[in-house]
Amino acid sequence: MLKIKVVLGTTRQGRFGEQPAKWIVEKAKAKGLDVELLDLRDYPLPFFDEPVSPSMKKEPYANPVVAQWTAKIAEADGFIFTVAEYNHGPAAALKNAIDYVADEWHKKPVAFVGYGTVGAARAVDQLRPIVTEQQMAPMRTAVHMVAPWALLDEKGVLKTESFDASAEQMLDQLIWWAEALKAAREKDVPAIAAA
Ligand SMILES: Cc1cc2nc3c(=O)[nH]c(=O)nc-3n(C[C@H](O)[C@H](O)[C@H](O)COP(=O)(O)O)c2cc1C
Repeated sequence: MLKIKVVLGTTRQGRFGEQPAKWIVEKAKAKGLDVELLDLRDYPLPFFDEPVSPSMKKEPYANPVVAQWTAKIAEADGFIFTVAEYNHGPAAALKNAIDYVADEWHKKPVAFVGYGTVGAARAVDQLRPIVTEQQMAPMRTAVHMVAPWALLDEKGVLKTESFDASAEQMLDQLIWWAEALKAAREKDVPAIAAA
């Protein structure tokens, strides 16, 4: 079973991000995936303050939160980031969480569920080169929830039907890439051992 981690990419009080995150968790589970929600509130990382960059470090970082976060990323075969748009870019908490890790992101696919005035299209497009630098494969299809605050029912619950088709397409792409890259990573192991 493919292990997919949904990263809830905002942490502020009263955040909206929980609704898209919980929705995409259920959608991914319905596809037969082993899904875990990683809420950045549960991983209170400091702003990156290590003396050595993640790709150059020789020893694991001492901070236990970083160790827990890194272990979760290591477990995954693929990711879905929920992406808010803060000043036309991704939230700093999400970028910081990406920056803290290197190898454990590598050769894994990532999909995006954006929400905001333009469905966080600008923030998602900023994330594409960032995750590419992390040797990840960004999925072409993303879910873009345009002005989702106009789609709340009387109880404040997001009406999600209009996003089902893009979620379906995005999850199918994620599964294809997660399977392909998992197989490729498994082939890597003897090559690394022999080197
Ligand atoms: C600091 C800040 C900057 C924002 N900038 C944008 C923006 O550039 N584009 C946009 O569509 N929404 C922007 N918004 C509105 C967010 O889309 C909206 O608050 C959304 O709910 C944020 O996600 P969150 O509730 O999960 O934190 C901004 C919100 C904050 C707090």
